[in-house]
Parts: sequence; structure tokens; C-alpha cells
Amino acid sequence: MAYVRIRALQQRSHKAKGGHLNRYRAPIITIDGPAGAGKSSSARALAERIGLGYLDSGALYRAVAWKMRDRKIDLACQADVEAACAGLQVTWSEAGVCVDGALASERLRDPEVTFASAVVAAYPGVRRVLIGTQREMAWRGVVAEGRDIGTVVFPDADVKFYLDAAPEVRAARRAKEMHRTDTDTLLREIMARDDRDRHRTVAPLLPAADAIVIDSTPLTLSDVIDRMMAEIGERGLLDRIR
Ligand code: CDP
Repeated sequence: MAYVRIRALQQRSHKAKGGHLNRYRAPIITIDGPAGAGKSSSARALAERIGLGYLDSGALYRAVAWKMRDRKIDLACQADVEAACAGLQVTWSEAGVCVDGALASERLRDPEVTFASAVVAAYPGVRRVLIGTQREMAWRGVVAEGRDIGTVVFPDADVKFYLDAAPEVRAARRAKEMHRTDTDTLLREIMARDDRDRHRTVAPLLPAADAIVIDSTPLTLSDVIDRMMAEIGERGLLDRIR
């Protein structure tokens, strides 16, 4: 009896949030988590496997950071960064991020741009501009990854994953991916960025209340995808992909 009442309340709140419409649109699948947890590889592989588009929201923050550096804007000056960002045209396609019509993919993963991305990402005016870019993709359905993608950008996503792993494992994966041998330095950089992302006041990195947390420390990419596919299948989301 109590269960029936709780279920009815849950359904009512789901409808109030637009849940009744969710059944008719293409699925939105979100993957949040810290650096090196495997968000990008799993999001890309999952999107390809189920035939949805892929969105790397971190690339948007990196592109803004790169543009600010290119224009020699003082990153420490929030007002200047926000004003410059408001005038930017930032778009996403499968080819990558475009800023004012030009593909901005070459330097985005350089350490200076990586550091700068976490600085600009803490500014509300930057986040406001980029949220619009991210939500434009929703109507087609998407596998989207990023720090706040399930908590802020797509709070009504059909399934949310939070991918984590031990810091040492994340640093080792990143070192391999970037062909770097200074794993200890990389670990310090990752921990400092995680700390900044977790403790900022706007859209901090944290799992959504309804996220499925996957600890990828002992898992291969294919294990992670299997876990995700099981959850997606259970929710009947594959039937909603055209
Ligand atoms: O690949 P990795 O997880 O190392 O970083 P990323 O996803 O490319 O994001 C770079 C930085 O952008 C992060 O450290 C965050 O500060 C910021 N970011 C964010 O604030 N919100 C997002 N949805 C994505 C990235």
C-alpha cells in the first residue's frame, strides 16, 4: 500500500518535471565524473554502439579557454572573461567545437588550456553561454559527457551515469593517452583540477542524486560499456532511437 502511494507520488513529480513528454523524444544519456575516469572513451563508444550523437561538453570549456588565451584576456578577471564569452559563437558538431565559425580542436588538450578551462568554467557567465550550446542537441537525443551534464544541463536525462576511478589509475590512463611519462606531475594536476571543479560554487562536480555510480578502477572500457548497456536496455531506451 505504502509502495503504491510512493510510486504514485513519484509519477506525479516525474510528470511535473516534463517526464510525460520524455517518453516521446530520443533518449538523453549523461556521463559525469572527474578527469581520466573514462567519460570521453565510454561516451564516444556508447554513442556509436547505440546510434546517438555524442557531446563532449569539456571541449566547449576548453575552446572558450583557448580563445581567451588567444585574445590575451586576463583569466583572473571574471568580468572580462564573461564579457568576451558573451560575444562568442560556440557550436558543437561531430567534427568538434567551432568558435566563431573556426574549428578549435588543435591545442585544446595542451596543459595550459586544460588548466585555463577549469578557471573559466567556474564563471557563471561562461556556463550560461555554454548551457545553450549543449541543450541545442537534446531534441535529437545524445550521449553527453561532462562535469555537470546530469546535474545541471540535462537534469531530466533518461539515464545518468557517474564514472569514477582511483586518482592514481586516472593519472596513469591520462599519461598513456597523452604520451607523458611524468605521471606524478599529471596526478597533481588532475587532483588540483578535481579540487577546483568540486569546490566551485556554480555547477560543482558531484554525482546527481539519481546517477548510477560506476567505479571503473578495475574495469576495462568494454566492461563499462556492458554495464551501461544493461541499464539502457532495462529502461527500454533502445526502442526510442530512430
Ligand atoms: O577530459 P577531462 O575530464 O580531463 O576534462 P574535460 O571534460 O575536457 O573538461 C575540462 C574542464 O572543463 C574541467 O576541468 C572543468 O573545469 C570544465 N568542465 C565543466 O566545468 N563542466 C563540464 N560539463 C565539462 C567541463
